[in-house]
Amino acid sequence: MDLESKNQAGPSVKKTVFSGVQPSGILHLGNYLGALAQWVEMQSKYHCIFCVVDYHAITVKQKPEELSRRILDVVKIYLASGINPEKAVIFRQSDVKAHVELAWILNCAAARMADLNKMTQFKEKGANKESVSVGLFDYPVLMAADILLYNTDLVPVGEDQVQHVELTRTLASRFNRDYGQVFKIPAVAVRKQGARIMGLDDPTKKMSKSASSPANYIALTDTPEAAAKKIKRAVTDSGKEIKFDQNKKPAIANLLTIYSLLSGLSFKELEEKYRGQGPAYAGASAGKYGEFKNDLAEEVRKFLVEFQIKYRGFTDDEVREILQDGADRVRPIAQETLNKVKNKLGIN
Ligand code: TYM
Repeated sequence: MDLESKNQAGPSVKKTVFSGVQPSGILHLGNYLGALAQWVEMQSKYHCIFCVVDYHAITVKQKPEELSRRILDVVKIYLASGINPEKAVIFRQSDVKAHVELAWILNCAAARMADLNKMTQFKEKGANKESVSVGLFDYPVLMAADILLYNTDLVPVGEDQVQHVELTRTLASRFNRDYGQVFKIPAVAVRKQGARIMGLDDPTKKMSKSASSPANYIALTDTPEAAAKKIKRAVTDSGKEIKFDQNKKPAIANLLTIYSLLSGLSFKELEEKYRGQGPAYAGASAGKYGEFKNDLAEEVRKFLVEFQIKYRGFTDDEVREILQDGADRVRPIAQETLNKVKNKLGIN
């Protein structure tokens, strides 16, 4: 197959999309709805490059055997989500050396301590830890290198990564200003709905793989039955009405968001469907939001059954081949950008 028909990122009128996921823990419904589902929509329209960012994962300690397993599993999750390697490039960050080379160069020639000190995710992840790696602090610079190597136009991510993409824009502009034009300035693409899926146990905190309790998240690898139970046990708000109100009903707003994205029904349609159901269920054994939660649990269960059939359908060997092919296709693009950067610095 020729490169163009495989949607190879390269000189073309199509815009380039770049994004990635860390193989650092359980992938959950938040990752899927905030990022992966958006990637799937984009792959037919843009030149898409999706990376498994293993160098980001080692910013915190990982068990080596588990990490190498998870790298393959993340690719299977991409594939089960609907990313098609005939349309989009899938590769592993550590297979393309230019990422770490550019990260070091940006560390020296563009990033400032003051920029990184502002990053809220580092403050959260580094808080209350006795020893924090330099890599964790520097992590957004590696992310900037990932994005900038491919002349990226759009970076589809969840809301928690927006600050990092803004930093990428700052670093690119600063380098261009100080050394001459090399980098394209990328834009962030955040979904209107689903950019911040909240924890099922606490709607004030995002759904997160590092949450202390598994009741916080629906893992994409949870058994469908266990996931349905988690929905049924999810925290709700006071009152009875099924209504999207982010401020007054954050828990119901979160469940409505998940429901709407999985079913394709709008908030309005869902509100209509459950109008008047609250009071009838008040005091009933299923609880006041009973029918709504039962239906959503069924929606999640169905989604996971289908997802996991696809997930189990890929072999490790297939995945290894996809990764090798992907790296071979993007390496020349990354190298070309790196060469331009090194020329500007006088180190080529
Ligand atoms: P990571 O691995 O933490 O998350 C992967 C993607 O999932 C999104 N996400 C969510 N979206 C909605 N609701 C949630 N609760 C939720 N939790 C996570 C994230 O926003 C992300 O889009 N630094 C990145 C990985 C990365 C990257 C890149 C991304 C490295 N280089 C270059 C884009 C471009 C990260 O740790 O994502």
